[in-house]
Amino acid sequence: MNIIEQTNSHIMPTYGRSEVVLDNGAGATIRDENGKSYIDFGSGIGTASLGYCNQAWADAVCEQVRKIQHTSNLFYHAPQAKFAEKLCAMTGYEKVFFGNSGAEANECAIKLARKYSFDKYGKGRSTIITLVNSFHGRTIATLSATGQDVFHNYFFPFVGDFRYAKANDIADLHEKLDDTVCAIMIEYVQGEGGVMALEQDFVDEIRKLCNEKDILMIADEVQTGIGRTGRLLAGEHFGVQADVTTIAKGIGGGLPVGICLAAKKCADVLGKGAHGSTFGGNPVVCAGALQVLETLDTPGVMDGIAKKAEWLRGEIAKCGEVEAVSGLGFMIGISLKTKKAPDVLKACLDKGLLVLTAKDRVRLLPPLTISQEELEAGLKILTEVLEA
Ligand SMILES: Cc1ncc(COP(=O)(O)O)c(C=O)c1O
Repeated sequence: MNIIEQTNSHIMPTYGRSEVVLDNGAGATIRDENGKSYIDFGSGIGTASLGYCNQAWADAVCEQVRKIQHTSNLFYHAPQAKFAEKLCAMTGYEKVFFGNSGAEANECAIKLARKYSFDKYGKGRSTIITLVNSFHGRTIATLSATGQDVFHNYFFPFVGDFRYAKANDIADLHEKLDDTVCAIMIEYVQGEGGVMALEQDFVDEIRKLCNEKDILMIADEVQTGIGRTGRLLAGEHFGVQADVTTIAKGIGGGLPVGICLAAKKCADVLGKGAHGSTFGGNPVVCAGALQVLETLDTPGVMDGIAKKAEWLRGEIAKCGEVEAVSGLGFMIGISLKTKKAPDVLKACLDKGLLVLTAKDRVRLLPPLTISQEELEAGLKILTEVLEA
């Protein structure tokens, strides 16, 4: 059996996979088992933030593997402590909780918000408002939080007390808000929902309402966070800090990690025994994630990401087939005039470029450290496909 047959025979068919067996990579270029090269404008759905086999990241991870690969959270270890300290310093949050995925980070945020409210106000304030078209994960609670009917099938009963307000509709938000609400949870740019950025006045209104009513503002930055939009957190574009922010995807540089960041007022809500994760804060993952932060903290790097992203967005917008370019920074959605996104994905793949789709859009999430040469090579293929 070849790799594709082995996979299809033994792994549950939950993904629609392209018929390519990826084998090795360097920078933003990845190769398949036959040696064919692809420029990767998807970075493993936004996870390989420093590209493939970044030297400093690989060294940090390998060095840690040889020291201690895992120890439980019943002890202390340096990679976890150092990474947590740097993450708090760079983001302005007080404390973090470590899990292993975006969904888990959001589970933690949901639990934290409900307990924050319970501790202060008792029962009856457990409703969380999320947005129509949002995506927050695949666990039962995060599916329940996800504001898309298509995800609310088969797995009944879902978790109660989630309410969905229309994005950018302040009147609808007010209508959904009552005294049972303990949190409002948003993505600044809806990723899986089609790469749609929220509007400034809507975000401002959420921040204002949360302050007035002592409701927690939760920002799901699983996809938008850690440099993806040209700022460390996408909230910076809006001049807002949520009370709780979740990150995952890019922070590990390709290793599984999901983190819930809490501001001072709710940093100690989850006490001993209230939450946990066997693998959360694993030393190897923390050593790699610390290297991601150190790279992004190097002077000029974040500005460089923002500039490269602006350039790419501008070039894509010039293409005649492109209706509009949405998103922020290196989180790019492309609406097409005549072509279908899955056809573009397939044609790009054939020519050596990996892209993603979201709803009816082509979606790009290139590695943050992609070189100008790789950007130009990928853009050339994309333009050829769009103009064919
Ligand atoms: C905004 C957002 N939240 C949560 C998730 C779930 O993350 P994970 O697949 O790591 O559980 C995703 C994944 O795409 C996401 O984009």
